[in-house]
Amino acid sequence: MKIGVFTSGGDAPGMNAAIRAVVRTAIAGNAEVTGIIGGYSGMIEKKFQPMNLRSVANIIQRGGTILKTGRCMEFLKPEFRKLAAENLRAEGIDALVCIGGDGSFRGAHQLVLEHQIQIVGIPGTIDNDIFGSDNTIGFDTAVNTALDAIDKIRDTAASHDRLFIVEVMGRNSGFIASHVGLAGGAEAVFTPDIPMTVENVLERIKAGVSKGKTSSILITAEGQKPGRAYDLAEQIRKKSNFDAKVCILGHQQRGGSPTANDRILASRLGASAVQALLQKQTDIMLGVRGEDIVSVSLEQATKTEKHTPKQYVDLTHMLAN
Ligand code: F6P
Repeated sequence: MKIGVFTSGGDAPGMNAAIRAVVRTAIAGNAEVTGIIGGYSGMIEKKFQPMNLRSVANIIQRGGTILKTGRCMEFLKPEFRKLAAENLRAEGIDALVCIGGDGSFRGAHQLVLEHQIQIVGIPGTIDNDIFGSDNTIGFDTAVNTALDAIDKIRDTAASHDRLFIVEVMGRNSGFIASHVGLAGGAEAVFTPDIPMTVENVLERIKAGVSKGKTSSILITAEGQKPGRAYDLAEQIRKKSNFDAKVCILGHQQRGGSPTANDRILASRLGASAVQALLQKQTDIMLGVRGEDIVSVSLEQATKTEKHTPKQYVDLTHMLAN
C-alpha cells in the first residue's frame, strides 16, 4: 500500500508531529508513504515526495508544516479533482491522510465520492471548529500564544489605566476568543456566534470602574475580516468617553513550537489515521472525545456546526467583577 499525506488550509502547530506519526506508523505497517506538497494544489501539479523514517526526523517540535499548505480554489471545480485523482493513481497512491480543517475535509469527501480515493482526515486548525473532536491540532498552542500576549498587554494596560481590545483569530469561530477570555481574565468576549453589544460591554466597564477597576481587557474574535477590534474601538469612542487601544494578534497565533498537548494529539491522531487506512476504512475523520479516539463521517464533520462554548463566555463575564 502507498499512503499519501498532505496538509491543507491554514497551517497549525502540531501538523509536523502528525506528519511524523503518519510516516512512521505507515512504515511500521509495511506501507510506503508519499508527501504531497502544498495540499490539493500539489495533487494537481504532481508535487509528490517519497518519505522515509529520516524525512520526519527533528520536526516534532517545529511549527508550520514541512509539506507546505494552501487554500486551493481550483479544487472546488470537478475537472481539477478528476486531474488530482488521475495524478494520484499514476503515482501509485492508494490512500490519503488529509490533515486540515472543514474546507479541506469537504474536498476530501468529494474525492471519495467522485473518484473512490480512500481517505481518512485528522483535524488540524487553530480554530477548533471541527465537529467530531473535542480539540483540533494547533488549538492549544494558539490559545497559549494568544494568552502569553494578553498577559503582556495586561501589564501595560494596568500601568496606564487603559482599556484594551485584543483581537484573536477565528473567522467563524469563537473558540480561541472564549478560551483566552477565560484564561486571561478578560472583562468581555466578542465571538461570531454569541450576542454581545457594545452597550452591554460599556455597562460592564462602567460597573467595573465604580468598583475600583482602572484597566480592562476585551477580547474579540476577528470575524469575517481582520480589524473588527478597530470597529469596536470606534463604537466605544462614539458611545462613551473611553479611549480603547487596539492590539491585533494575527498570524503569530498560527506559528511557534507546538505545546505538549498538541504534539500528543497529533501523534495519536496521525498514528490512528494510518491504522484506519490499513483496516480499509475511508471517508471518515478521526478526533478525540475525552481520552478516546473516535470517528465521524467526513460529511458529518463538515456539515455539523460546533458552537463556541457559551458557558466559558458566561463564566468569564461572571468572574470579571
Ligand atoms: O483557519 C485558521 C485561520 O487562522 C482563521 O482563524 C483565520 O480566520 C484564517 O485562518 C486566516 O486565513 P489566512 O491566513 O488564509 O488569511
